[in-house]
Amino acid sequence: MDGLTIVGHPLVQHKLSLLRDRRSSTQLFRAVVREIATLLCYEVTRDLRTELIEIETPITTTLSPAIAGKKLVFAPILRAGLAMADGMLDLVPSARVAHIGLYREPVSLQAVEYYFKTPEDVAERLVIVVDPMLATGHTAIAAIDRLKEAGASDMRFVCLLAARPGAEALRAAHPDVPIWAAAMDDRLNDHGYIVPGLGDAGDRTFGTR
Ligand code: URA
Repeated sequence: MDGLTIVGHPLVQHKLSLLRDRRSSTQLFRAVVREIATLLCYEVTRDLRTELIEIETPITTTLSPAIAGKKLVFAPILRAGLAMADGMLDLVPSARVAHIGLYREPVSLQAVEYYFKTPEDVAERLVIVVDPMLATGHTAIAAIDRLKEAGASDMRFVCLLAARPGAEALRAAHPDVPIWAAAMDDRLNDHGYIVPGLGDAGDRTFGTR
């Protein structure tokens, strides 16, 4: 699919299998979500601009690359996106964090906002929206609508699992926002869960039901 990158790295794929396994404990699940997010962050930032800066090594002075251009904001969709944001912050600790509180209304599956906070200069930053499960796409679309309303114009979306209908819906609603995922599953069940999926990512991360 145009605008969708599946990160097929063996480490990502192996770790995703651990998440799919219903026997994985909450502790393991949370740790592995964080690890995969770090690896996905590495991929989603692959094209960040660098510039040469002068560095004094213990031996001599040299020109060496440093990240240049826009600063980053990680924007986890609460609450399941939080562990992913932690994994990304492990790699880019200086990034700002926006919090987007949306829940899926269980019958309509529509997104309902209950919290929204971004850095003041979000318009000047590259915003990486994170949510483990791209299911119907309603929540991702609403989050990106809201971020655009707040001024964000340069965004990328990162998830663990994309369902084909959700990825298509997000690409159609926001063609300017590319998607990175560890895998894509074909379908959703009647309750809006991804099949085969990995269950409820929020509940499995936090040990709730
Ligand atoms: N949210 C989840 O946590 N899991 C799904 O399968 C779909 C949406």
